[in-house]
Amino acid sequence: MYTPTPEDRFTFGLWTVGWQARDPFGDATRAPLDPVETVHRLAGLGAYGVTFHDDDLLAVESDRAKAIESFKKALSETGLKVPMATTNLFTHPVFKDGGFTSNDRDVRRYALRKVMRNLDLAAELGATTYVCWGGREGSESDAAKDVRAALDRYKEALDLLCQYVIDKGYDIRFALEPKPNEPRGDILLPTIGHALAFINGLEHPERVGLNPEVGHEQMAGLNFVHGIAQALWHGKLFHIDLNGQNGIKYDQDLIFGHGDLKSAFFLVDLLENGGYEGPRHFDYKPLRTDDSEDVWASAAANMRTYLILKEKSKAFRADPEVQEALAASRVAELAQPTLAEGESLDDLIAESFDVEAAAERGFHFTRLNQLALEHLLGVRG
Ligand code: GCO
Ligand code: MN
Ligand code: MN
Repeated sequence: MYTPTPEDRFTFGLWTVGWQARDPFGDATRAPLDPVETVHRLAGLGAYGVTFHDDDLLAVESDRAKAIESFKKALSETGLKVPMATTNLFTHPVFKDGGFTSNDRDVRRYALRKVMRNLDLAAELGATTYVCWGGREGSESDAAKDVRAALDRYKEALDLLCQYVIDKGYDIRFALEPKPNEPRGDILLPTIGHALAFINGLEHPERVGLNPEVGHEQMAGLNFVHGIAQALWHGKLFHIDLNGQNGIKYDQDLIFGHGDLKSAFFLVDLLENGGYEGPRHFDYKPLRTDDSEDVWASAAANMRTYLILKEKSKAFRADPEVQEALAASRVAELAQPTLAEGESLDDLIAESFDVEAAAERGFHFTRLNQLALEHLLGVRG
């Protein structure tokens, strides 16, 4: 029942299971992982696809052409898809002040070339989403970065890259991934809201959307479910990075559901019922204490947790007591336009209303929340 199949459209970044667990305080605890092995292991676990940064493919192999060839062979052997690709504009020291928004113009030009080169590969592998996570686009000092100029350059980069995929005829859309901080002290486009507003100023706004990550909004103390709902409302949820986070602290990249579980439940409920049709992409880091076999158990845990929550969401919605509680809380009434068809503002102004009586009516949200909690805890349905 909770066994994933490709129809579930679960995908993983090569860099997730392949993370060697090097952190700012300690060395790697695991050996490098060959992308070919990753493809086979993920397929064996029931995943639909795999995603990559340009640099991930070369982590083991020093010959680019050979690395791509063996990766493609593994894909055709397993049937695994590549729905998304991205560029590493953060590891190499050249990107220490960013890629698209480095103060150094030569670095910005190099960053664009690096992205264009990997866009060609992404198109060749059939990817339709190209993620831009600007981890190094930011600063530690407000004296060091002219943010308005940086946004001009960010826009310039996206405008040029959109033009590039249009000219090449690639079926690729870009997805910006917001994050408030880490590795930079402050990162540009820090939240879903900032990124949504920025997209409006672009030359090809229809070609640019979002790839929000659970932990990144939660690091900022924001409600991820609300953020995703708004991204959906704008038609901008192009892709999603699922993982777990426990509150406002460093980016934990935990297994999906291993952080704020209640939020994960409502997120799955929203994704399954809110019209999102893209891949369910896990961007997590296996614990540093896990060994190289534990890594595969952790990959499986992401998918299993998602499927369990999907089942819980169905049971929650089907529960007659929940339906009654939803009606008592008048949740569906919010979908009703405030002004009726044909009604005028004069009609509205003329309406009489017992404010005190309305103020006394309760919404009974506690009961609804408790029912959700009990479904989640497995004592109902
Ligand atoms: C993070 C980021 C990264 C990016 C990925 C794509 O955890 O801060 O999510 O994992 O998503 O590198 O560029
Ligand atoms: Mn993260
Ligand atoms: Mn991510």
